[in-house]
Amino acid sequence: MNEEQKQRYQERYAEEKQKGVKFYPDIIYKDTVVAFGLFILLVGLAIFVGVANEPKADPSDTSYIPRPEWYFLFLFEFLKYVPGAIEWVGAAVIPGVVILVLFLLPFIDRNPNRYWSKRKLAISLMAVIVLGIVALTILAVATTPPQPETDTIAGTITEQIVVGEELYGLHCVECHGPDGEGGEIVGVEGLEGVVVKSISSQDEMYTRSDETFYNVIDYGQPDLGMTPFGRAYGGELGPGAIETIVTFMRYTWDDRVEIPEEAALASAIPALGPDEIPSYEVHVQAIVKRYCISCHRQGKQNNDYFMSTYEEIMESGANAPNVIPGDINSLLLMSIRREEMPGLDPEVGPMPPTKALKEELLEIFRRWVLGGAPNTAAEAEALSPTPESAPPAYPEPEATP
Ligand code: HEC
Ligand code: HEC
Repeated sequence: MNEEQKQRYQERYAEEKQKGVKFYPDIIYKDTVVAFGLFILLVGLAIFVGVANEPKADPSDTSYIPRPEWYFLFLFEFLKYVPGAIEWVGAAVIPGVVILVLFLLPFIDRNPNRYWSKRKLAISLMAVIVLGIVALTILAVATTPPQPETDTIAGTITEQIVVGEELYGLHCVECHGPDGEGGEIVGVEGLEGVVVKSISSQDEMYTRSDETFYNVIDYGQPDLGMTPFGRAYGGELGPGAIETIVTFMRYTWDDRVEIPEEAALASAIPALGPDEIPSYEVHVQAIVKRYCISCHRQGKQNNDYFMSTYEEIMESGANAPNVIPGDINSLLLMSIRREEMPGLDPEVGPMPPTKALKEELLEIFRRWVLGGAPNTAAEAEALSPTPESAPPAYPEPEATP
Protein backbone atom coordinates (compact mmCIF):
# COMPACT_ATOMS: atom_id res chain seq x y z
CA MET A 1 0.00 0.00 0.00
CA ASN A 2 1.56 3.28 -1.04
CA GLU A 3 1.04 6.67 0.57
CA GLU A 4 -1.69 7.68 -1.84
CA GLN A 5 -3.72 4.50 -1.25
CA LYS A 6 -3.33 4.91 2.47
CA GLN A 7 -4.57 8.47 2.27
CA ARG A 8 -7.64 7.43 0.29
CA TYR A 9 -8.37 4.60 2.68
CA GLN A 10 -8.23 6.85 5.68
CA GLU A 11 -10.51 9.41 4.09
CA ARG A 12 -13.05 6.74 3.28
CA TYR A 13 -12.74 5.31 6.78
CA ALA A 14 -13.48 8.73 8.32
CA GLU A 15 -16.40 9.21 5.95
CA GLU A 16 -17.94 5.81 6.79
CA LYS A 17 -17.44 6.47 10.45
CA GLN A 18 -19.40 9.71 10.15
CA LYS A 19 -22.54 8.09 8.81
CA GLY A 20 -21.93 4.64 10.20
CA VAL A 21 -23.62 2.69 12.99
CA LYS A 22 -22.23 2.63 16.48
CA PHE A 23 -21.02 -0.60 18.13
CA TYR A 24 -22.90 0.42 21.22
CA PRO A 25 -25.86 0.42 21.20
CA ASP A 26 -26.64 -0.49 17.55
CA ILE A 27 -24.55 -3.63 16.98
CA ILE A 28 -25.00 -4.84 20.53
CA TYR A 29 -28.75 -4.53 20.06
CA LYS A 30 -28.73 -6.60 16.88
CA ASP A 31 -26.55 -9.24 18.50
CA THR A 32 -28.88 -9.42 21.47
CA VAL A 33 -31.92 -9.97 19.28
CA VAL A 34 -30.22 -12.76 17.31
CA ALA A 35 -28.84 -14.40 20.46
CA PHE A 36 -32.28 -14.33 22.04
CA GLY A 37 -33.83 -15.90 18.94
CA LEU A 38 -31.30 -18.74 19.09
CA PHE A 39 -31.93 -19.17 22.80
CA ILE A 40 -35.68 -19.59 22.22
CA LEU A 41 -34.90 -22.09 19.47
CA LEU A 42 -32.73 -24.12 21.86
CA VAL A 43 -35.36 -24.07 24.60
CA GLY A 44 -37.93 -25.22 22.05
CA LEU A 45 -35.71 -28.06 20.85
CA ALA A 46 -35.02 -29.16 24.42
CA ILE A 47 -38.74 -29.23 25.25
CA PHE A 48 -40.18 -30.69 22.08
CA VAL A 49 -37.38 -32.83 20.70
CA GLY A 50 -35.07 -33.60 23.61
CA VAL A 51 -32.20 -36.05 23.73
CA ALA A 52 -32.61 -39.76 24.37
CA ASN A 53 -31.17 -40.97 27.65
CA GLU A 54 -28.25 -43.31 27.61
CA PRO A 55 -28.55 -46.31 29.90
CA LYS A 56 -28.05 -45.53 33.57
CA ALA A 57 -24.39 -45.19 34.49
CA ASP A 58 -22.94 -48.44 35.83
CA PRO A 59 -19.51 -48.01 37.46
CA SER A 60 -18.85 -51.75 37.34
CA ASP A 61 -19.34 -52.07 33.60
CA THR A 62 -15.79 -52.29 32.24
CA SER A 63 -16.90 -52.61 28.62
CA TYR A 64 -18.26 -49.07 28.48
CA ILE A 65 -16.18 -46.70 26.37
CA PRO A 66 -16.87 -43.09 27.26
CA ARG A 67 -17.30 -40.81 24.23
CA PRO A 68 -17.33 -37.04 24.01
CA GLU A 69 -20.16 -35.18 22.34
CA TRP A 70 -19.82 -34.85 18.57
CA TYR A 71 -18.36 -31.33 18.74
CA PHE A 72 -15.40 -32.59 20.76
CA LEU A 73 -14.81 -35.67 18.64
CA PHE A 74 -11.91 -34.02 16.79
CA LEU A 75 -9.96 -33.66 20.03
CA PHE A 76 -10.79 -37.26 20.91
CA GLU A 77 -9.52 -38.38 17.48
CA PHE A 78 -6.43 -36.17 17.70
CA LEU A 79 -5.42 -37.83 20.98
CA LYS A 80 -5.20 -41.16 19.20
CA TYR A 81 -2.10 -39.91 17.32
CA VAL A 82 -0.31 -38.85 20.48
CA PRO A 83 1.71 -41.50 22.36
CA GLY A 84 0.26 -42.26 25.80
CA ALA A 85 3.36 -41.09 27.70
CA ILE A 86 3.01 -37.55 26.40
CA GLU A 87 -0.76 -37.46 26.38
CA TRP A 88 -0.69 -34.09 28.12
CA VAL A 89 0.96 -32.57 25.07
CA GLY A 90 -1.94 -33.69 22.86
CA ALA A 91 -4.61 -32.95 25.43
CA ALA A 92 -3.50 -29.51 26.60
CA VAL A 93 -0.38 -28.05 24.97
CA ILE A 94 -1.18 -28.37 21.26
CA PRO A 95 -4.85 -27.30 21.49
CA GLY A 96 -3.72 -24.48 23.79
CA VAL A 97 -1.18 -23.26 21.24
CA VAL A 98 -3.77 -23.37 18.44
CA ILE A 99 -6.25 -21.35 20.47
CA LEU A 100 -3.50 -18.90 21.38
CA VAL A 101 -2.64 -18.48 17.69
CA LEU A 102 -6.29 -17.77 16.92
CA PHE A 103 -6.30 -15.12 19.67
CA LEU A 104 -3.14 -13.55 18.36
CA LEU A 105 -4.14 -13.67 14.71
CA PRO A 106 -5.40 -10.06 14.58
CA PHE A 107 -2.06 -8.94 16.03
CA ILE A 108 0.12 -11.14 13.87
CA ASP A 109 -1.63 -10.16 10.67
CA ARG A 110 -2.35 -6.45 10.77
CA ASN A 111 -3.03 -6.14 7.09
CA PRO A 112 -6.05 -3.78 6.74
CA ASN A 113 -7.06 -5.24 3.38
CA ARG A 114 -10.45 -6.87 3.25
CA TYR A 115 -9.96 -8.98 0.13
CA TRP A 116 -9.25 -12.61 0.95
CA SER A 117 -6.69 -12.95 -1.84
CA LYS A 118 -4.62 -10.29 -0.13
CA ARG A 119 -4.82 -11.94 3.28
CA LYS A 120 -3.05 -15.17 2.55
CA LEU A 121 -1.60 -15.74 6.05
CA ALA A 122 -4.85 -15.29 7.99
CA ILE A 123 -6.98 -17.17 5.46
CA SER A 124 -4.64 -20.13 5.12
CA LEU A 125 -4.15 -20.45 8.89
CA MET A 126 -7.89 -20.44 9.48
CA ALA A 127 -8.45 -22.86 6.59
CA VAL A 128 -5.91 -25.32 7.96
CA ILE A 129 -7.56 -25.24 11.39
CA VAL A 130 -11.14 -25.60 10.11
CA LEU A 131 -10.25 -28.36 7.64
CA GLY A 132 -8.29 -30.13 10.36
CA ILE A 133 -11.26 -30.07 12.73
CA VAL A 134 -13.67 -31.28 10.05
CA ALA A 135 -11.33 -34.07 8.91
CA LEU A 136 -10.65 -35.28 12.46
CA THR A 137 -14.36 -35.28 13.26
CA ILE A 138 -15.16 -37.35 10.16
CA LEU A 139 -12.33 -39.76 10.99
CA ALA A 140 -13.59 -40.13 14.55
CA VAL A 141 -17.16 -40.87 13.47
CA ALA A 142 -15.94 -43.34 10.86
CA THR A 143 -13.60 -45.25 13.16
CA THR A 144 -15.57 -45.41 16.43
CA PRO A 145 -18.32 -48.01 16.35
CA PRO A 146 -21.57 -47.03 18.07
CA GLN A 147 -21.78 -47.96 21.74
CA PRO A 148 -23.46 -51.36 22.08
CA GLU A 149 -26.62 -51.24 24.18
CA THR A 150 -25.57 -52.13 27.68
CA ASP A 151 -28.04 -54.40 29.34
CA THR A 152 -31.09 -52.15 29.07
CA ILE A 153 -33.98 -54.51 28.80
CA ALA A 154 -36.11 -52.57 26.40
CA GLY A 155 -39.46 -53.75 25.23
CA THR A 156 -43.07 -53.35 26.11
CA ILE A 157 -44.24 -53.11 29.70
CA THR A 158 -45.51 -56.67 29.39
CA GLU A 159 -42.09 -57.96 28.34
CA GLN A 160 -40.47 -56.08 31.19
CA ILE A 161 -42.92 -57.47 33.74
CA VAL A 162 -42.32 -61.01 32.51
CA VAL A 163 -38.53 -60.62 32.71
CA GLY A 164 -38.84 -58.89 36.09
CA GLU A 165 -41.01 -61.65 37.48
CA GLU A 166 -38.48 -64.26 36.44
CA LEU A 167 -35.64 -62.30 38.08
CA TYR A 168 -37.71 -61.82 41.22
CA GLY A 169 -38.32 -65.59 41.32
CA LEU A 170 -34.62 -66.25 40.97
CA HIS A 171 -33.23 -63.69 43.39
CA CYS A 172 -35.82 -62.53 45.88
CA VAL A 173 -38.25 -65.37 46.69
CA GLU A 174 -35.93 -67.11 49.14
CA CYS A 175 -36.25 -64.22 51.60
CA HIS A 176 -39.38 -62.31 50.56
CA GLY A 177 -41.64 -65.17 49.41
CA PRO A 178 -43.27 -65.62 45.98
CA ASP A 179 -45.74 -62.80 46.60
CA GLY A 180 -43.49 -60.45 48.55
CA GLU A 181 -45.44 -61.41 51.65
CA GLY A 182 -42.36 -61.77 53.88
CA GLY A 183 -42.56 -63.49 57.25
CA GLU A 184 -40.01 -65.63 58.98
CA ILE A 185 -37.10 -66.71 56.78
CA VAL A 186 -36.54 -70.50 56.77
CA GLY A 187 -33.92 -72.41 54.82
CA VAL A 188 -31.61 -69.50 53.98
CA GLU A 189 -28.08 -69.70 55.27
CA GLY A 190 -27.27 -67.02 57.85
CA LEU A 191 -30.78 -65.56 58.04
CA GLU A 192 -32.63 -68.46 59.64
CA GLY A 193 -35.46 -67.07 61.76
CA VAL A 194 -35.12 -63.44 60.66
CA VAL A 195 -38.56 -61.90 60.16
CA VAL A 196 -39.03 -59.61 57.16
CA LYS A 197 -41.98 -57.35 56.67
CA SER A 198 -44.14 -57.57 53.58
CA ILE A 199 -42.79 -55.70 50.55
CA SER A 200 -46.05 -56.07 48.62
CA SER A 201 -48.35 -54.43 51.17
CA GLN A 202 -50.31 -51.30 50.40
CA ASP A 203 -48.27 -49.53 53.05
CA GLU A 204 -45.00 -50.43 51.31
CA MET A 205 -46.31 -49.66 47.81
CA TYR A 206 -47.76 -46.29 48.78
CA THR A 207 -44.74 -45.07 50.71
CA ARG A 208 -41.89 -46.24 48.47
CA SER A 209 -41.09 -44.74 45.08
CA ASP A 210 -39.68 -46.75 42.19
CA GLU A 211 -36.40 -45.02 42.81
CA THR A 212 -36.34 -46.20 46.44
CA PHE A 213 -37.00 -49.78 45.34
CA TYR A 214 -34.27 -49.45 42.72
CA ASN A 215 -31.79 -48.25 45.32
CA VAL A 216 -32.74 -50.90 47.89
CA ILE A 217 -32.16 -53.63 45.29
CA ASP A 218 -29.02 -51.97 43.97
CA TYR A 219 -27.17 -51.65 47.29
CA GLY A 220 -29.31 -53.83 49.47
CA GLN A 221 -29.78 -53.28 53.17
CA PRO A 222 -26.61 -54.98 54.35
CA ASP A 223 -27.05 -54.21 58.05
CA LEU A 224 -30.56 -55.75 57.96
CA GLY A 225 -29.46 -58.85 56.04
CA MET A 226 -30.28 -57.99 52.43
CA THR A 227 -27.27 -58.36 50.18
CA PRO A 228 -26.65 -55.84 47.38
CA PHE A 229 -27.70 -56.94 43.88
CA GLY A 230 -26.19 -54.12 41.77
CA ARG A 231 -22.97 -55.03 39.98
CA ALA A 232 -21.31 -51.93 41.39
CA TYR A 233 -21.77 -53.33 44.88
CA GLY A 234 -20.71 -56.89 44.15
CA GLY A 235 -24.09 -58.26 43.03
CA GLU A 236 -24.95 -59.80 39.69
CA LEU A 237 -27.67 -57.50 38.31
CA GLY A 238 -27.18 -54.63 35.87
CA PRO A 239 -29.34 -51.48 35.88
CA GLY A 240 -31.75 -52.82 33.22
CA ALA A 241 -32.39 -56.00 35.19
CA ILE A 242 -33.05 -54.09 38.41
CA GLU A 243 -35.48 -51.83 36.57
CA THR A 244 -37.51 -54.80 35.31
CA ILE A 245 -37.81 -56.12 38.89
CA VAL A 246 -39.11 -52.73 40.04
CA THR A 247 -41.56 -52.68 37.11
CA PHE A 248 -42.76 -56.18 38.03
CA MET A 249 -43.25 -55.20 41.70
CA ARG A 250 -45.11 -52.01 40.87
CA TYR A 251 -47.48 -53.53 38.32
CA THR A 252 -48.16 -56.66 40.34
CA TRP A 253 -48.57 -55.32 43.87
CA ASP A 254 -49.61 -51.69 43.64
CA ASP A 255 -53.41 -51.55 43.55
CA ARG A 256 -53.30 -48.10 41.93
CA VAL A 257 -51.58 -49.49 38.86
CA GLU A 258 -53.35 -51.80 36.44
CA ILE A 259 -51.33 -54.70 35.08
CA PRO A 260 -51.70 -55.15 31.30
CA GLU A 261 -53.91 -58.16 30.58
CA GLU A 262 -51.26 -59.95 28.52
CA ALA A 263 -48.77 -59.64 31.38
CA ALA A 264 -51.22 -61.15 33.85
CA LEU A 265 -51.86 -63.98 31.39
CA ALA A 266 -48.18 -64.55 30.72
CA SER A 267 -47.41 -64.97 34.41
CA ALA A 268 -50.40 -67.20 35.20
CA ILE A 269 -49.62 -70.88 35.63
CA PRO A 270 -51.64 -72.71 32.95
CA ALA A 271 -54.69 -74.55 34.31
CA LEU A 272 -55.12 -78.27 33.72
CA GLY A 273 -57.87 -79.99 31.78
CA PRO A 274 -59.78 -82.74 33.61
CA ASP A 275 -57.60 -85.68 32.55
CA GLU A 276 -54.63 -83.78 31.26
CA ILE A 277 -51.16 -84.84 32.35
CA PRO A 278 -49.02 -81.77 32.93
CA SER A 279 -45.56 -81.47 31.41
CA TYR A 280 -42.38 -79.97 32.84
CA GLU A 281 -42.14 -77.57 29.93
CA VAL A 282 -45.60 -76.01 30.27
CA HIS A 283 -46.61 -76.37 33.92
CA VAL A 284 -43.94 -77.54 36.34
CA GLN A 285 -41.24 -75.18 35.11
CA ALA A 286 -43.50 -72.17 35.69
CA ILE A 287 -44.17 -73.23 39.30
CA VAL A 288 -40.53 -74.05 40.01
CA LYS A 289 -39.40 -70.66 38.67
CA ARG A 290 -41.79 -68.90 40.96
CA TYR A 291 -41.62 -70.97 44.14
CA CYS A 292 -38.43 -73.03 44.24
CA ILE A 293 -35.58 -71.84 42.01
CA SER A 294 -34.52 -69.02 44.30
CA CYS A 295 -33.19 -71.61 46.78
CA HIS A 296 -32.70 -74.56 44.45
CA ARG A 297 -29.80 -73.32 42.37
CA GLN A 298 -26.02 -73.36 42.61
CA GLY A 299 -24.51 -71.59 45.60
CA LYS A 300 -27.52 -71.91 47.91
CA GLN A 301 -28.29 -74.18 50.82
CA ASN A 302 -30.46 -76.96 49.32
CA ASN A 303 -28.96 -80.46 49.73
CA ASP A 304 -27.46 -79.96 46.25
CA TYR A 305 -30.90 -80.26 44.72
CA PHE A 306 -30.84 -77.95 41.69
CA MET A 307 -34.02 -77.29 39.80
CA SER A 308 -32.93 -75.14 36.83
CA THR A 309 -33.50 -77.83 34.18
CA TYR A 310 -35.57 -80.96 33.73
CA GLU A 311 -32.47 -83.15 34.10
CA GLU A 312 -31.47 -81.46 37.36
CA ILE A 313 -34.93 -81.91 38.83
CA MET A 314 -34.91 -85.60 37.92
CA GLU A 315 -31.33 -86.38 38.90
CA SER A 316 -29.67 -84.00 41.35
CA GLY A 317 -29.92 -83.86 45.16
CA ALA A 318 -28.41 -85.52 48.22
CA ASN A 319 -31.43 -87.85 48.34
CA ALA A 320 -31.73 -88.22 44.56
CA PRO A 321 -33.83 -89.17 42.81
CA ASN A 322 -36.38 -86.78 44.25
CA VAL A 323 -38.81 -87.56 41.46
CA ILE A 324 -39.61 -91.20 40.69
CA PRO A 325 -42.13 -91.28 37.84
CA GLY A 326 -45.34 -92.94 39.00
CA ASP A 327 -44.34 -93.01 42.69
CA ILE A 328 -46.61 -91.09 45.06
CA ASN A 329 -43.88 -91.37 47.70
CA SER A 330 -41.32 -89.42 45.66
CA LEU A 331 -39.47 -87.13 48.04
CA LEU A 332 -40.52 -84.05 46.09
CA LEU A 333 -44.21 -84.87 46.52
CA MET A 334 -43.78 -85.71 50.19
CA SER A 335 -41.92 -82.49 50.87
CA ILE A 336 -44.50 -80.24 49.22
CA ARG A 337 -47.34 -82.13 50.96
CA ARG A 338 -45.40 -81.27 54.11
CA GLU A 339 -45.45 -84.85 55.33
CA GLU A 340 -43.14 -86.53 57.75
CA MET A 341 -40.60 -88.41 55.75
CA PRO A 342 -39.82 -91.50 57.79
CA GLY A 343 -36.49 -93.12 57.19
CA LEU A 344 -35.19 -90.20 55.17
CA ASP A 345 -32.65 -87.55 56.04
CA PRO A 346 -34.32 -85.85 59.01
CA GLU A 347 -32.83 -82.63 57.69
CA VAL A 348 -35.31 -82.42 54.82
CA GLY A 349 -38.23 -80.34 55.94
CA PRO A 350 -41.47 -79.29 54.26
CA MET A 351 -41.09 -77.40 50.97
CA PRO A 352 -41.20 -74.50 50.35
CA PRO A 353 -40.02 -74.13 53.95
CA THR A 354 -42.17 -71.13 54.87
CA LYS A 355 -45.61 -71.73 53.41
CA ALA A 356 -47.49 -74.55 51.68
CA LEU A 357 -48.20 -74.29 47.96
CA LYS A 358 -51.78 -73.68 46.90
CA GLU A 359 -53.95 -76.75 46.38
CA GLU A 360 -54.04 -76.46 42.58
CA LEU A 361 -50.26 -76.33 42.38
CA LEU A 362 -49.93 -79.40 44.59
CA GLU A 363 -52.34 -81.11 42.21
CA ILE A 364 -50.18 -80.22 39.19
CA PHE A 365 -47.09 -81.74 40.86
CA ARG A 366 -49.03 -84.84 41.90
CA ARG A 367 -50.47 -85.51 38.45
CA TRP A 368 -47.14 -84.80 36.82
CA VAL A 369 -45.20 -87.34 38.93
CA LEU A 370 -47.95 -89.98 38.79
CA GLY A 371 -48.43 -89.43 35.07
CA GLY A 372 -44.76 -90.29 34.40
CA ALA A 373 -43.10 -86.88 34.89
CA PRO A 374 -42.94 -86.00 31.17
CA ASN A 375 -40.57 -83.29 29.99
CA THR A 376 -42.20 -81.80 26.87
CA ALA A 377 -45.82 -81.04 26.07
CA ALA A 378 -45.72 -83.64 23.29
CA GLU A 379 -44.57 -86.35 25.70
CA ALA A 380 -47.33 -85.37 28.13
CA GLU A 381 -49.85 -85.54 25.32
CA ALA A 382 -48.70 -89.06 24.42
CA LEU A 383 -49.06 -90.15 28.06
CA SER A 384 -52.47 -88.57 28.57
CA PRO A 385 -55.33 -91.09 28.57
CA THR A 386 -57.44 -90.97 25.41
CA PRO A 387 -60.43 -93.19 26.22
CA GLU A 388 -61.87 -94.75 23.04
CA SER A 389 -65.36 -94.32 24.39
CA ALA A 390 -65.05 -90.56 24.89
CA PRO A 391 -66.98 -88.60 22.30
CA PRO A 392 -64.78 -86.48 19.99
CA ALA A 393 -64.58 -82.83 20.98
CA TYR A 394 -66.12 -81.80 17.68
CA PRO A 395 -68.68 -83.85 15.76
CA GLU A 396 -67.20 -85.67 12.79
CA PRO A 397 -68.21 -83.99 9.54
CA GLU A 398 -70.96 -86.04 7.94
CA ALA A 399 -70.02 -87.82 4.76
CA THR A 400 -71.73 -86.14 1.86
CA PRO A 401 -72.98 -88.49 -0.81
C1 HEC B 1 -30.90 -62.92 51.65
C2 HEC B 1 -32.22 -62.45 51.91
C3 HEC B 1 -32.79 -61.38 50.99
C4 HEC B 1 -32.85 -61.41 49.62
C5 HEC B 1 -32.33 -62.49 48.69
C6 HEC B 1 -33.52 -60.20 49.21
N1 HEC B 1 -33.86 -59.45 50.31
FE1 HEC B 1 -34.88 -57.70 50.33
N2 HEC B 1 -34.69 -57.59 52.34
C7 HEC B 1 -34.10 -58.56 53.14
C8 HEC B 1 -34.12 -58.11 54.50
C9 HEC B 1 -33.59 -58.90 55.69
C10 HEC B 1 -34.72 -56.82 54.50
C11 HEC B 1 -34.96 -55.89 55.65
C12 HEC B 1 -35.95 -56.47 56.60
C13 HEC B 1 -37.21 -55.70 56.71
O1 HEC B 1 -37.17 -54.48 56.55
O2 HEC B 1 -38.26 -56.32 56.89
C14 HEC B 1 -35.08 -56.54 53.11
C15 HEC B 1 -35.74 -55.40 52.69
C16 HEC B 1 -36.23 -55.23 51.40
C17 HEC B 1 -37.11 -54.16 51.00
C18 HEC B 1 -37.74 -53.16 51.92
C19 HEC B 1 -37.09 -51.84 51.93
C20 HEC B 1 -37.95 -50.92 52.75
O3 HEC B 1 -37.49 -50.55 53.83
O4 HEC B 1 -39.05 -50.63 52.32
C21 HEC B 1 -37.36 -54.31 49.66
C22 HEC B 1 -38.24 -53.44 48.77
C23 HEC B 1 -36.63 -55.47 49.22
N3 HEC B 1 -35.96 -56.00 50.31
C24 HEC B 1 -36.66 -55.96 47.93
C25 HEC B 1 -35.93 -57.06 47.53
C26 HEC B 1 -35.87 -57.52 46.15
C27 HEC B 1 -36.62 -56.93 45.01
C28 HEC B 1 -35.05 -58.60 46.14
C29 HEC B 1 -34.59 -59.41 44.95
C30 HEC B 1 -33.83 -58.71 43.97
C31 HEC B 1 -34.61 -58.83 47.50
N4 HEC B 1 -35.15 -57.86 48.31
C32 HEC B 1 -33.81 -59.87 47.89
C33 HEC B 1 -33.57 -59.75 52.73
C34 HEC B 1 -33.42 -60.14 51.40
C1 HEC C 1 -36.32 -70.75 51.16
C2 HEC C 1 -35.56 -71.66 50.40
C3 HEC C 1 -36.27 -72.85 49.74
C4 HEC C 1 -37.34 -72.84 48.89
C5 HEC C 1 -38.14 -71.63 48.42
C6 HEC C 1 -37.55 -74.21 48.48
N1 HEC C 1 -36.65 -75.03 49.08
FE1 HEC C 1 -36.51 -77.06 48.87
N2 HEC C 1 -34.91 -77.07 50.10
C7 HEC C 1 -34.38 -75.98 50.76
C8 HEC C 1 -33.33 -76.43 51.66
C9 HEC C 1 -32.53 -75.50 52.55
C10 HEC C 1 -33.23 -77.81 51.50
C11 HEC C 1 -32.30 -78.75 52.25
C12 HEC C 1 -33.08 -79.56 53.24
C13 HEC C 1 -33.66 -78.72 54.36
O1 HEC C 1 -32.95 -77.87 54.90
O2 HEC C 1 -34.85 -78.90 54.68
C14 HEC C 1 -34.23 -78.19 50.52
C15 HEC C 1 -34.44 -79.49 50.10
C16 HEC C 1 -35.41 -79.88 49.21
C17 HEC C 1 -35.63 -81.23 48.77
C18 HEC C 1 -34.82 -82.44 49.16
C19 HEC C 1 -33.62 -82.54 48.25
C20 HEC C 1 -32.66 -83.65 48.59
O3 HEC C 1 -32.15 -84.30 47.65
O4 HEC C 1 -32.41 -83.88 49.79
C21 HEC C 1 -36.69 -81.21 47.90
C22 HEC C 1 -37.29 -82.38 47.15
C23 HEC C 1 -37.13 -79.83 47.79
N3 HEC C 1 -36.33 -79.05 48.61
C24 HEC C 1 -38.18 -79.39 47.00
C25 HEC C 1 -38.56 -78.08 46.89
C26 HEC C 1 -39.61 -77.63 46.00
C27 HEC C 1 -40.42 -78.53 45.08
C28 HEC C 1 -39.74 -76.29 46.17
C29 HEC C 1 -40.69 -75.34 45.47
C30 HEC C 1 -42.09 -75.70 45.49
C31 HEC C 1 -38.74 -75.89 47.17
N4 HEC C 1 -38.05 -77.00 47.57
C32 HEC C 1 -38.56 -74.59 47.60
C33 HEC C 1 -34.77 -74.65 50.62
C34 HEC C 1 -35.84 -74.24 49.85
